[in-house]
Amino acid sequence: MTAQPIAVDGRRLWNSLMELAEIGGYRDPRTGLRGVNRLALTDADAAGRRLVLGWLREAGLSVRIDPMGNIIARRQGADPTAAPVVTGSHLDSVATAGAFDGCLGVLGGLEVVRTFNERRISTRRPIEVVIFTEEEGVRFGTDMLGSAVAAGRIAVQDAHDLIDRDGCSVGAELRRTGFAGDGPARFEPPHAYVECHIEQGPVLARAGLTVGVVTGVQGISWQEITIHGRAAHAGTTPTELRADAGIAAARIVLRLRELVDSGRFGALRATVGHLAVHPDLTNIVPARAELTVDLRNPDDEQMARAEADLAGYLSELEDGSGITLSTRRMARTSYVPFDAGIQQAIATAADDHGLTHLSLLSGAGHDAQELASICPTAMIFVRGEYDGISHNPREYSTPEACARGIDVLATTLVRLADE
Ligand code: GLV
Ligand code: MN
Ligand code: MN
Repeated sequence: MTAQPIAVDGRRLWNSLMELAEIGGYRDPRTGLRGVNRLALTDADAAGRRLVLGWLREAGLSVRIDPMGNIIARRQGADPTAAPVVTGSHLDSVATAGAFDGCLGVLGGLEVVRTFNERRISTRRPIEVVIFTEEEGVRFGTDMLGSAVAAGRIAVQDAHDLIDRDGCSVGAELRRTGFAGDGPARFEPPHAYVECHIEQGPVLARAGLTVGVVTGVQGISWQEITIHGRAAHAGTTPTELRADAGIAAARIVLRLRELVDSGRFGALRATVGHLAVHPDLTNIVPARAELTVDLRNPDDEQMARAEADLAGYLSELEDGSGITLSTRRMARTSYVPFDAGIQQAIATAADDHGLTHLSLLSGAGHDAQELASICPTAMIFVRGEYDGISHNPREYSTPEACARGIDVLATTLVRLADE
């Protein structure tokens, strides 16, 4: 028999979100808004993890921490040998975040468990709530790091060896913060994975809807480009004698925008979010420039063509200009389609809660795209406000929208856990 729809305690969920947002919280000087800064494996991230770990234990879950610092909290099922139904997300944030990205999925999983405990709901399969490490990728350079190791795409040692801009490694920071766990780094395939996340875009709000069913995640290509020129005096060096790394960097930024505007690469998006020149002084021609390129595309073939076009342009820039360039791959994922059956289960749960919904592709990367390679997976999106702005203190979803998304999560999980 199909389980009845389950409504969670929206106020308790909201209070948990707001309490967690105080950890790493800061006041944005420009807007006066309260933001969140919990870069992966910093003291703030560790404090956030400890707070939520305490809540997971209070809810009666047994917790294990794996070698990537992923936290796996299990609510036992009537059949403990059955593959679990897993939910979760991440608590690490970009340096200028709001309270919802990732946190809604983790605290939503916790709220589901609290609700099941209160109502004495038991399931055949175990249910696991997972906190994945370094989803954002902004500290150590590779996004979805913890989930990529759990799914077997990245080797644990390679992940441990990644370093941040100060030379601190993932492995050392896991040990320093007390989250270097043990046991297998790869997950046994779960029965299913379902993640709830704020949409981070405008689609649901424009459609006047509260929740969405996510069909998949578009491809992501990240690389770092370093340009080597020649430092020189700004006042005395004739223009024709310069090898200005800053000019080459500016050309790359504009070229990327031209690629997007040309329409030749489908729905390509391109962003240079990091750009630094050295020695970074007013009266010195930049000797070196560093920038990151973030490309997104739902079509793998168009993505490969855009990458090839950029590579060709980089060679052209080098030719006879006195500058040299090197590139470093940071992250690369293809388009990931989600499981049709899990999408249907989410849509049915939304219907049963009386919520109209639509299906949409995710523009952002998520841990779910990694889990999709080892088990049937899909996601629930919750509507964001202010055009869905995210990675920004203005990121906001209403208490009502968060609660409705987690209602859908609860109903989907209870049904999958009884299969
Ligand atoms: C994750 O937040 C991303 O950059 O898509
Ligand atoms: Mn996220
Ligand atoms: Mn994010």
